[in-house]
Amino acid sequence: MMAYVRVESLDDPRLRDYTNLRDVALRRSLEVAGGLFIAEGEKVIRRAVEAGYPVRSVLMTERWLESVRDILPPDVPCFVLPPDQVERVTGFQVHRGALASMARLPLPPVEKVVAGARRLLVLEDIVDHTNVGAIFRSAAAFGIDAVVLAPRCADPLYRRSVKVSMGAVFTVPYARMTNWYDGLGELRAAGFQTVALTPADDAVPLEECARGSGRLALVLGTEGDGLSARWQGEADIRARIPISPAVDSLNVAAAAAVACYVLTRELR
Ligand SMILES: C[S@@+](CC[C@H](N)C(=O)[O-])C[C@H]1O[C@@H](n2cnc3c(N)ncnc32)[C@H](O)[C@@H]1O
Repeated sequence: MMAYVRVESLDDPRLRDYTNLRDVALRRSLEVAGGLFIAEGEKVIRRAVEAGYPVRSVLMTERWLESVRDILPPDVPCFVLPPDQVERVTGFQVHRGALASMARLPLPPVEKVVAGARRLLVLEDIVDHTNVGAIFRSAAAFGIDAVVLAPRCADPLYRRSVKVSMGAVFTVPYARMTNWYDGLGELRAAGFQTVALTPADDAVPLEECARGSGRLALVLGTEGDGLSARWQGEADIRARIPISPAVDSLNVAAAAAVACYVLTRELR
């Protein structure tokens, strides 16, 4: 049985988990400090629960009650409010169904996440949550074993990343480096060939370094400047996806999708 909770006022502190979901700065601090994240819609909430994330509470309008009834463990507080009040709390019209506040789980260390992996993605300072979500979705689709984030990379559990990934952020193991400077060197020491993905003309075509089944870490750069000189210099190989000279580069998530396909082809 879900535990319906009556709220007398929208200032009720139990609704704080859902405050101003579009305010990125506020949400970043609130979610990290509170050890929570927001999952949106029945499918994504279901995947988060299946992946073992505990549900703190849910917030929805009455029409979505049935969609989540079988997902939620008993005694999870369930706030049911009229649409205009949900909008006042969250700051936007929630069309996609229920919202769930989920508890974060401790992130494993990089060594644990890469142990046993053959194909890794490494994201350097990718700050756009949509790109992070889309990259995880491709990683899950093509069977990438794990994702390693540089310290400044955006949070995969931010609402937008979770939504765009369609829950792939719950199934693809990931960890965050603490040491950017030596980060690639540490992956090399763990037995990975590190391949820096760059649109630069002097890089080798990706197909040429995607042979064999050895351990390989594919490194993707930030949306504006691309990979840092440090990481390009540290990588074993710099590889490019050949594209028309009329186009400077691919969006990083599109590049990740193409590269994941190429790099996992021989393992399938
Ligand atoms: C928008 S691009 C950055 C463009 C930046 N001006 C540069 O020269 O790297 C973001 C990331 O996507 C990847 N990328 C984009 N297009 C690529 C291509 N044609 N080949 C390989 N990687 C590419 C790279 O990892 C790059 O760091």
